[in-house]
Amino acid sequence: MSKILLVDDEPSILSVLSTLLKAEKYDVTPALGGEKALEILKKEKFNLMLSDIRMNGMSGLELLKHCNKNISDMVIIMLTAYGSVETAIQALKLGAFDYVTKPFKLDELLMTVQRALEYSKAITENKELKTQIKTRYMLENIIAESPAMQNVCEMIKRVAPTDTTILICGDSGTGKELVARAIHANSTRKDKKFMAVNCAALPEALLESEMFGHVRGAFTGATSDKVGLFESAKGGTIFLDEISSMPLSIQSKLLRMLQEHEIRRVGSNENVSIDARILTATNVPLEQMIKEGLFREDLYYRLSVIPLTIRPLRERVEDIIPLANHFIAKEVQGTDKQSALLDKEATNALQKYRWPGNVRELENAIKHALTFTTNDTIKVDVLPERIIESSSIGYKQNPVNIDPFSAAKGLSLKNFLRDKEQKYLRQVLEQCGGDKEAAAKKLKISLATFYRKMPDIEE
Ligand SMILES: Nc1ncnc2c1ncn2[C@@H]1O[C@H](COP(=O)(O)OP(=O)(O)OP(=O)(O)O)[C@@H](O)[C@H]1O
Ligand SMILES: [Mg+2]
Repeated sequence: MSKILLVDDEPSILSVLSTLLKAEKYDVTPALGGEKALEILKKEKFNLMLSDIRMNGMSGLELLKHCNKNISDMVIIMLTAYGSVETAIQALKLGAFDYVTKPFKLDELLMTVQRALEYSKAITENKELKTQIKTRYMLENIIAESPAMQNVCEMIKRVAPTDTTILICGDSGTGKELVARAIHANSTRKDKKFMAVNCAALPEALLESEMFGHVRGAFTGATSDKVGLFESAKGGTIFLDEISSMPLSIQSKLLRMLQEHEIRRVGSNENVSIDARILTATNVPLEQMIKEGLFREDLYYRLSVIPLTIRPLRERVEDIIPLANHFIAKEVQGTDKQSALLDKEATNALQKYRWPGNVRELENAIKHALTFTTNDTIKVDVLPERIIESSSIGYKQNPVNIDPFSAAKGLSLKNFLRDKEQKYLRQVLEQCGGDKEAAAKKLKISLATFYRKMPDIEE
């Protein structure tokens, strides 16, 4: 039975409406005024609220605003005095489903209530269906038009239910973490934790204690016991990102864990058994590192039981526009640009560009474009400059080309170099889709140096 909350500050109207709606087999709760309604809403859920607009104390519009912000899944119909169309329209803008003018005709009121309840039911069903689909086939989040990406999805479905260790290879921003999450979401461990650790982000000692935990007194500053990621995963999945940055000492500990399904906390002699599936990712080919003695070959074979490679975006052009549309849809949700569309020229520019920062760069480019789009058509001129430039004929990629007017500016050599350096740093940052860590890595400088050189960039 649908539950209706009835709000009015006139007891006579409340009682008449209550009787009418109860006769139609609705479960009706009357509330005398807006404040009373709020009190009831704190304790109970309703499918529909029918409220007068003009009330003493809290007005119907205030109540509507509050409900729309704080309560989902409840449709709202407003009752308004004959002739006050403007307030009624304001109510619709504030999220009311519809309004009924007083004095109302019984048929009209009941029809509106019925329509509103059907609408609410459809929305709830749709939501439930969507969450079901999401948990069952998390792959719907992955756009895969190209054969290469479809292949990846096929692999995800096949390997997810197994407990195999998987090495996900791909350039920065290609979707490695997304794939790792999809593997977890499609595995039998999906209700357990998914824990990610970026091996490049922590210094050796911290990474070790983060992964394996430590006991009190294991090193200076270890004032209490700490449970590591492997232990706290408890049947879940651990995603070791940028595994190429893992120091050799930790590599051997990880290898032991993979062989024996046991670890020891730093500073402890006790073995703790571990149940965690290990997924890893790298944007550096590990084979070269093995040759240089920086990565253990035996660990590599353990980790890459099944290697899964994501191709750079420029090699799967079919994915570019579907991905762009996916990001547009994601960004415009709840804004006034609901029907934003790429025009032909913008589409062409996106397809031609080489996407050094891959999907992440595309996602940022779409955000950029939507910020500068004033209407529903996304034109080429609102795309980031580098994309416009590379799409125009005859453009040669030359990241540090010398501006012929620099000499005329009369800059000192130091300032000239700083100027160029800034431009180059910005270009690399853009190429990395705004990811400062990735940019610093590409430039072979530390993150701290990167921030020092670009003081106006937000940390
Ligand atoms: N095929 C895809 N479909 C939908 N979204 C995608 C796809 N590939 C990547 N993305 C999105 O692009 C962004 C970057 O992806 P992700 O973080 O997984 O990349 P990554 O390879 O881990 O990057 P990095 O190497 O920089 O850590 C995320 O927002 C992700 O959701
Ligand atoms: Mg990542």
